[in-house]
Amino acid sequence: MDHRTEVQKETERQYAFMEKAAGYVEAMAAKLGRKPTCCVTTFGCQMNARDSEKLAGILEKAGYELVEDENADFVIYNTCTVRDNANQKVYGRLGVLNGYKKKNPHMKIALCGCMMQEPSVIEKIKKSYPFVDLIFGTHNIFKFAELLTAMFENKGMVIDIWEDTDKIVEDLPVERKYPFKSGINIMFGCNNFCSYCIVPYVRGRERSRNPKDIIREIEGLVADGVVEIMLLGQNVNSYGKNLEEPVTFAQLLTQIEKIEGLERIRFMTSHPKDLSEELIQVMKHSKKICRHLHLPLQSGSTRILTAMNRRYTKEQYLKLAEHIREEIPDISITTDIIVGFPGETAEDVEETIDVIRRVKYDNAFTFIYSKRTGTPAAAMDNQVPEDVVKAGFDKVLKVVQDTAREQAARYQGQVMEALVEEINESDPGMVTGRLSNNLLVHFPGDASLIGKIVRVSLEECHGFYYVGKRVE
Ligand code: 5AD
Ligand code: SF4
Repeated sequence: MDHRTEVQKETERQYAFMEKAAGYVEAMAAKLGRKPTCCVTTFGCQMNARDSEKLAGILEKAGYELVEDENADFVIYNTCTVRDNANQKVYGRLGVLNGYKKKNPHMKIALCGCMMQEPSVIEKIKKSYPFVDLIFGTHNIFKFAELLTAMFENKGMVIDIWEDTDKIVEDLPVERKYPFKSGINIMFGCNNFCSYCIVPYVRGRERSRNPKDIIREIEGLVADGVVEIMLLGQNVNSYGKNLEEPVTFAQLLTQIEKIEGLERIRFMTSHPKDLSEELIQVMKHSKKICRHLHLPLQSGSTRILTAMNRRYTKEQYLKLAEHIREEIPDISITTDIIVGFPGETAEDVEETIDVIRRVKYDNAFTFIYSKRTGTPAAAMDNQVPEDVVKAGFDKVLKVVQDTAREQAARYQGQVMEALVEEINESDPGMVTGRLSNNLLVHFPGDASLIGKIVRVSLEECHGFYYVGKRVE
């Protein structure tokens, strides 16, 4: 059987399981006298958010009503394990779910996502959280309909974790959170093995989707009203290298740009070591690719970068950032920074601060190093004491906030296009729009604007966002 037919067969199998699951949900509905409810809770990154939309699509097909409240008939946690605090949150909230379950005998609880790929987590759940009904991981999420059926047919915990996969299953249902924008997976997994990072272990090796499948999916989304897409991958710059007919990420972008009706293209995440000149040029000349590049730095110290296995130096990173700012002056550059990597000294933190000042990040996510079992960094014997890490973290955060504020202020008085995303949370007379450079702007408007791209003058800069008004 060739690869395509195999993929199609699997999709058909899963649709058959959705029907089967629908039978169980219908029976439950008859018993309850109402449609059973379900809640999908997401932890972690954009990849997980997209996976959750796939889970929600299948649950909806099975006949559940999607709700926000976790006091529901089915609750699934799509977990993250990149830092330990994400894990702790899941354990804490499972206790609350158990309380709901004691009052609702129909309730089922499922766990999936990155955290479930860790054997120690499964052991802990089996021992301390026996009320969980279904557990699966990142590699077999396409089997969710089948696993849901198994959950209805079995007493006790259903556990299905795969160590890896080369499978990419297409065309399963998706329930999007926003009608006008959507994430799209272009690749799965990561081959980089940064020494602190658990992602390569829980998401497996790099696999790229076929450009044809990606384009077809985007065309479908556009036909359905989507104007902005975010291409998702752990390291989009190495997209397409392992395809039968290799394609570069820049070439993929050029193809996507041609899709009529699509207005904006974003992507996440870029590894500095793989960012090509070809990509910079494609971005520079594009009308649709947003003026935003997320370029994780992690550390500004070459010594620490080497220990992190990032495969670039401080100087190489600075040169790259400077070149990008020269080529695309209105671009916004954001980053991720880790403070407290094993062996990091006060001088190393100063090097990081130096890079922040020089690159002038438009925004940065700063994280305290979290020891992840199984990664090379966890075995390093020079772990930094907590109080030293905290002091470094506060220092870095302050500089990050200062540069972000300065950078945001540079657009004061300009007129820019904003995609209206929602009614402002604190003022129902205002709407919130996102600029191409990822800044938010609040301005007077109503729900009829949601999903539209409008021109807004940026009147007042409030640190990290603008208040403005619509102009024709
Ligand atoms: N500790 C702290 N931060 C981490 N990240 C990844 N692994 C760790 C870890 N062990 C951060 C990196 C990455 C972001 C998604 O999470 O900065 O870019
Ligand atoms: Fe982790 Fe590095 Fe992969 Fe990013 S590129 S997910 S930091 S291993």
